[in-house]
Amino acid sequence: MSILITGGAGFIGSHTAVELINCSEKIVIVDNLTNSNMQTIDNIKRITGAEFPFYEYDCCCKKDMTKIFKQNDIESVIHFAGLKAVGESVEQPLKYYENNLQSTLLLCEVMEENDCNRLVFSSSATVYGSPKTVPIKENFPLSATNPYGSTKLMIERILSDICISNPRFSVAALRYFNPIGAHKSAIIGELPNGIPNNLMPYITQVAAGKLKCLNVFGNDYDTHDGTGVRDYIHVVDLAKGHIKALDYAKNHSGYETFNLGTGTGYSVLDIVHAFEKTNKVKIPYKIVDRRPGDIAICYADITKSKKILSWQAELGLEDMCKSSWEFTKKAFNN
Ligand code: NAD
Ligand code: WQD
Repeated sequence: MSILITGGAGFIGSHTAVELINCSEKIVIVDNLTNSNMQTIDNIKRITGAEFPFYEYDCCCKKDMTKIFKQNDIESVIHFAGLKAVGESVEQPLKYYENNLQSTLLLCEVMEENDCNRLVFSSSATVYGSPKTVPIKENFPLSATNPYGSTKLMIERILSDICISNPRFSVAALRYFNPIGAHKSAIIGELPNGIPNNLMPYITQVAAGKLKCLNVFGNDYDTHDGTGVRDYIHVVDLAKGHIKALDYAKNHSGYETFNLGTGTGYSVLDIVHAFEKTNKVKIPYKIVDRRPGDIAICYADITKSKKILSWQAELGLEDMCKSSWEFTKKAFNN
């Protein structure tokens, strides 16, 4: 019996693949490599010493997805595959609706046809829109502020409807906060194409001398130092959360949502200073206007994940800053 990982060559999928193999699970990866590359698949094998089937297929192709289920005994699926750039989703909404929705609809169809009833889905804290208060609980009101967020909201709704229609179906929708960091081997991590949109990849590229200076988007928010506060979580902790969620899905049917964050908020300047202190590098920065669509503060209430999944993040900000930098240094030297 194998676990199918869609989008397993990506940032979070690759780390989850390593953790699953470390727990002696058999895996199969499907990824069309639209935002990743074959090297990551080889690196997962290098880290774990394991062999596993990899399919360079698009999850939007039913014929190919069916082939994977026919060739492997798939008991559960972790569905990471999706496009995730918020700004691009505003410019090209159709691309996002088509890819993210179509891949999920087809996956669920193929799962039902092959009597596979367990799914862990990559949702996002973006489904909380602009929360009125923090920490954010799973039962807070949901809304979307961009097409990317809308795809996550719509998919959550679809999955919840499938669970109502099919009482054997089990879905854990995991709402990630801000994943950063990299594996301790420093050979898998996050290296976005072009100029990074997210804070940590931007900082590491400034540290590497690829970019001159970090633009800090606003210092007039109602936070301890005026800069935006987020719940940064180490990607390895996040990966381990998926294993707990799979266990949960094995023992329960129906639809459930879980926050995966640390429960602690750090500001942009907290991150800059922690990165400088941990890695002994200077990060030049300047304060610029707020980025449209950003909220002041976002961090998770993790009571539910702690209680029901018995999961909690273990790695702190220093580990996140150190591993992000070690990975980026290595990636740029290769
Ligand atoms: P990523 O881009 O590194 O990984 C996604 C992978 O999916 C990529 O390897 C890409 O090639 C693949 N993919 C995309 N569309 C595909 C398709 N149609 N068929 C096959 N493969 C396809 O992103 P990530 O950071 O690892 O994110 C994984 C998931 O988690 C995504 O669904 C994302 O929306 C969600 N998420 C990410 C974050 C974050 O900050 N990284 C936060 C919340 C939620
Ligand atoms: C973090 C903080 C910025 C870059 C995004 C998506 C969200 C989720 C995670 C997928 C904010 C500030 C950033 C920079 C800065 N992804 N910043 N200068 O916006 O919390 O969340 O990624 O689901 O949906 O919206 O993350 O890393 O972009 O920003 O000052 O160059 O850093 O204003 O306060 P965000 P981020």
